[in-house]
Formats: sequence, C-alpha cells, structure tokens
Amino acid sequence: MGKIKLTGKGRRWQLTGHPWVYVDDILEGQGEAGELLPVEDPNGNPMGWGLFSTSSRIAVRMVTRSPEQPNREFWLGRMRRAVEARASAGLLDPEGACRLLAGDSDGVPGMVIDRYGRTCVLQSGSQGSDRMRDFLVELLLEVLPFEPDAIVDRSDTSVRRLENLEKRVETLRGSVAGPIVVREGEVEYEVDVFGGHKTGAYLDQRLNRIHAARFAEGHKVLDAFAYDGLFALHAAKAGAESVVCLEQNKAACERLQRAAERNGVADRIEVHRTNCMNALRERAEQGERYGLIILDPPAFARNRKEVAGAERGYVELNRRGFALATEAGHVVSASCSHNVRPHEFTEFLASAARLAGRDVWLEELAGAAPDHPYLVTLPESHYLKCAFLRIG
Ligand SMILES: C[S@@+](CC[C@H](N)C(=O)[O-])C[C@H]1O[C@@H](n2cnc3c(N)ncnc32)[C@H](O)[C@@H]1O
Repeated sequence: MGKIKLTGKGRRWQLTGHPWVYVDDILEGQGEAGELLPVEDPNGNPMGWGLFSTSSRIAVRMVTRSPEQPNREFWLGRMRRAVEARASAGLLDPEGACRLLAGDSDGVPGMVIDRYGRTCVLQSGSQGSDRMRDFLVELLLEVLPFEPDAIVDRSDTSVRRLENLEKRVETLRGSVAGPIVVREGEVEYEVDVFGGHKTGAYLDQRLNRIHAARFAEGHKVLDAFAYDGLFALHAAKAGAESVVCLEQNKAACERLQRAAERNGVADRIEVHRTNCMNALRERAEQGERYGLIILDPPAFARNRKEVAGAERGYVELNRRGFALATEAGHVVSASCSHNVRPHEFTEFLASAARLAGRDVWLEELAGAAPDHPYLVTLPESHYLKCAFLRIG
C-alpha cells in the first residue's frame, strides 16, 4: 500500500477541515486508482485516510481524520448515518423520492444514491467510489429499511472524464419496467432513471417547489427551464389560473404533458418546447405579466473562471424575469452553480433589479432540501441558491 505526504500548504489546508487534497499539495506518494491511502503531514504525522485519484486535480478525498484505517464497520456506519438521517426526516415514504446518500457531504466521497419509490439509482463520480461500488451496494442493502425492487448504476456524468472513467449505465439488481411514478406532496410524476437528467429528477428543489406554490393561487404562472414541470404542477394544484412552461428538452416536455394529465391540471398548463431566453424577451415585448415566475436555469459557471460570463447570464435572465412580473408578484430565481457564491448571486439580482427598473425584495434565500446536506467544511456542497423575491 502506498501513502501520501502533504506539503506544508497542503497540511494547513487540511486543518481548515476541507476534505479535498489538491494534486499540487502532495509532497510525495502515489497509489492505485481509487485506493484508500494513509495521509501524512510533511513530518510524517498521520492526518487520516483518503481515496486516491490518479488523474483528477482533486488527488485525495479525505474519508477520516483518524489514524485508524477505515474497515467494514466504519463504512457501514457511514451508510447507516446517511440513511437514518433521511428516515428520521420522514423521507422514506415508499411512494416518494429522496437522496439517500450525498457523496462527499455524507462522508462517502464521490457516491450519490437517490431513491425513487423502491428503486435506488447510484451515480459514481470518482475513482474511489467506482472501486468501492459493489461494496457500497452491499452495505446499502444492509442498512435500507426496505427491499429495493431495483438498483441502477447511472454513472454517466461528464465529471467522470476528469477521473479518466468511462460512462456507464447498468441495472445491478432487479429490473425497471418503464418509467417509475413517484409522489411529491400533492403531485405525481414519472421518472426516467435511465435517460432523465441527473439520476432522473432534480430532487434538490423539492421543498422550494412546494414553497413556491404558496404564491400561485389565482395567478398566471410562468415556469422557465421547467424540466418535468414540477414547479408548474405544484402551482397548478395550488390553484394557479394558468401556467406556462418553457423547456427545450423534448423528452422532459413530453413527461410534463403526461404529468399535467395525470394530475388533472392539463386544462391550465401550456407546455412550450423553446429557448427560454428568447421566449422571455418575446413575452415581455407582448406585454404579458405573471404573478409568479420561476427561473431555474442550468449551472452557468462550471468553474471560477466562468463566473464573469455567468454574471452576464444571470443578470440578463433575471432582468427579463423581473420585467414580466406583475406589481406585488413573486419571482423564484435559482442558481445551481456552486462557483457562484450566495452574496454574488444576490449582487446579480440587484443588478437585474436596477436594469429592470423594479423594486425587488429578497424574502428568503433558500438552498437545497436537507437530503442534499451542506457540509460546512465543504463549501462546494452549498451549490443551490433559491431566492424568493417580491417585485414592486
Ligand atoms: C435546473 S433544470 C430545471 C429543473 C426544474 N425546474 C425542476 O424543478 O425539476 C434546468 C432545465 O433547463 C433546461 N434548459 C437549459 N437551457 C435552456 C434554454 N436555453 N431554454 C430552455 N430550457 C433550457 C434543461 O433542459 C433543464 O431541464
């Protein structure tokens, strides 16, 4: 077994509690792809254990600060801690969906496991989690309080390229016969765990969708970047007069249309397969106004260098959104770029308000649902910002 010795700078960084070791902070040491290795400071004092990557700039993802090597009991404890946190939050309702394991935030670096009903979908994003996949599935089965119908490996994210890993989609256990139907509050929707975004749905926005629906009753609603339209469906169920959905993905638009029918609100939901940026401008020019507008775009900044470009995107998007709001209407505006910090996002919203010539009050700045936990020593895990704004 190899070991990793940190530079003085690497040691100081580790003392901040951040769980990642960057390749430039390694003084000496090597290991195999995904190997669990001891980590030492420059004087050879133990600093813990981490999972090694032979190709990523994040060379080691720390697992423990203890000198003892993690064993089966240790990993079982990590999995149990994650699943029990969801169970005690009431998230294991068999008809619902939630994130069971949130990778580095839950102390199991690189591995995400979501649950749709009784189907579990895992997504591995590092050499360490790939190497441990079958072992983690075995532990999952031990700690889950129900027998899963199926376990799918949906490891096809683009971050795998940084780890020199191929994309992979396979069913590891049981079978999935067509779309899975799950429930979120009053809304039922179908999930495509093989082809949908992420592991099939954006579970992180779950509470924000339910929260946003409070502003919908009796109003015209616009759901931009709608994906499967869950913001729209909640708004319609809560008594919106009408809901316009804008989304460019064909399969998502089709699922949205079917969900509108399934939930008995198809007469009040319009689905437009279109580019949101153009559609928002055109609707403003036509003088349309909405009492609730949702702006939930994809990440505009994939790294810190892209933040300047992302700023232009967020300012312009929100300017267009604010222009479409009725007086005393609400805009729910999200950013899922972890590179855009919360204070930067609120500055972008301020610029958009100035350009739109509207008064904008930030009533609440929410984050992801708690099954996507924000580990405070890992700022990257605080990626989602969801601003609830009142417009004057
Ligand atoms: C963050 S997701 C939205 C999640 C959704 N609001 C939910 O709660 O499930 C962003 C969506 O924007 C769509 N999208 C990206 N760029 C777009 C564009 N220019 N016009 C329309 N849709 C776009 C993507 O296909 C994706 O479905």
